[in-house]
Amino acid sequence: MKETDLPRVLEIQQELAFQDWNTAQFAAEIRANYALCVVYEPLAEQGTPQITGYAIFHLLGPDSELLSIAVRRNSQHKGIGKMLLDAGLSRLNPESKDRCFLEVREGNTSARKFYEKNGFKLYGDRKNYYSDGENACLYSIELESQIN
Ligand SMILES: CC(C)(COP(=O)(O)OP(=O)(O)OC[C@H]1O[C@@H](n2cnc3c(N)ncnc32)[C@H](O)[C@@H]1OP(=O)(O)O)[C@@H](O)C(=O)NCCC(=O)NCCS
Repeated sequence: MKETDLPRVLEIQQELAFQDWNTAQFAAEIRANYALCVVYEPLAEQGTPQITGYAIFHLLGPDSELLSIAVRRNSQHKGIGKMLLDAGLSRLNPESKDRCFLEVREGNTSARKFYEKNGFKLYGDRKNYYSDGENACLYSIELESQIN
C-alpha cells in the first residue's frame, strides 16, 4: 500500500462500512516500521487496474495483529481475502510458534466464518467493546496450527 492508493482504500472502506479510519490513520500505518500494509490489485485487461482489497498487520515478533482486512463486495469469494491474509501470516515464524491476533464484531458472521475457515480460533470476547455497544470476538492463530 502506498499513500497514492489511499483514495481507493478509503472508497473500499466506505463501501463496506465496517471501519471508520481517515486518511491520516492509514498514512500513519504505511509509515510505521512495524506495520505491513498490502493491497490487492488485479492485472488490468484494459485501462488502469483498480485495487480491490487491502489488509493491515502489525508484525510484532511473536504476537502480531491483523488490524484490518477488506475486499470490495463484488470481488469477494474469489480467494482475495485469503491472499491478503497469507501476505501477513507468511511473515510469521512457525519455528517460534508466532501468533496473530484479531478482534471482530460479534455480528460480523461472514468475517468470523472467513477467519475460522483460515485457522483462527476464538479465545475470548470483550463485552460492549464497540461504541455502539456490540461485543468484540477475539481470535488468534498459531502459525504452526495452520501448517499441520
Ligand atoms: C472478510 C473478507 C475480507 C473476506 O474476503 P474474501 O475475498 O471474500 O475472502 P475469500 O474469497 O478468501 O474467502 C471467502 C469465501 O470465498 C470462498 N472462495 C475462495 N476462493 C473462491 C473461488 N475461487 N471461487 C468461489 N469461492 C471461493 C472461500 O471458500 C470462502 O467461502 P465461505 O464464505 O463459504 O467460507 C470480506 O468478506 C470483507 O471484506 N468483509 C467486509 C470487511 C470486514 O468485515 N472485514 C473484517 C473485519 S476487520
